Amino acid sequence: MAQEKQPIIVGNWKMYKTIEEALAFFDELIPQVEQVTCAVKIAVPFTAIHPSKNKVCNTHIQIGAQNINEAQEGAFTGEVAAIMVKNAGADFALVGHSERRRYFGETNIQINKKIQRAVEIDLPIILCIGETFEDRQAGNTEAILQDQITECLHGIAQQKVHLLTIAYEPIWAIGSGTAATPEVAEGAHLDCRRVMEALFGADGAHVPILYGGSVTPDNGATFLHMPDIDGLLVGNASLKSNAFAKICTSCTIEGI
Ligand code: PGA
Repeated sequence: MAQEKQPIIVGNWKMYKTIEEALAFFDELIPQVEQVTCAVKIAVPFTAIHPSKNKVCNTHIQIGAQNINEAQEGAFTGEVAAIMVKNAGADFALVGHSERRRYFGETNIQINKKIQRAVEIDLPIILCIGETFEDRQAGNTEAILQDQITECLHGIAQQKVHLLTIAYEPIWAIGSGTAATPEVAEGAHLDCRRVMEALFGADGAHVPILYGGSVTPDNGATFLHMPDIDGLLVGNASLKSNAFAKICTSCTIEGI
């Protein structure tokens, strides 16, 4: 299985980079990832979606949003709808990142509505889930992941499953400099895989599951040797084109 998969490497810039900085990044990145065999995607700030999409239009790089609102449209000052990010050029959207949950109070119910809005316009999403350190210490990881997946994907139709990707991001590993070991991540991915299979059958079992949390050019490829780790979600190391390109090329050089 590990030989057959095409890894998916996704950057998440968070609230970094102006349009000029984004375009300069792609000027540097594009020549470095021309030959890679992995899928390359970056979730950029809303303001950089359209110019970034124009910049990468002749490449295989995909551009995504980091969030969408759960309403189709309406009087929600400062919010951005799924249709708007798609119209601006987004190929996908992140949903339910732990920073959204923590700093903006997003709940599984709200995240479920966001996913409904995305899939009804066929916008692919990456659903971020993960346990806290306390959850893990208490032995609750599997139950937490199961609840997050089940609640966030409640009511999603079988024919929309191809639009879904899961990102397993243990909260204790995000931005901490301490990644999960590939074995610990693999265990959680297997839990997620089983939940997806229980919900959606064989289609669910094939939904890609990415690992995120302190991924670096040095450790990135080590995760992809695991049978249930299909790609990576990269925060800090996606801000520098050389570091991000190195993660993409390391997956190619190692023939994963
Ligand atoms: P990190 O962030 O790679 O900086 O740990 C990952 C994320 O938040 O998606």
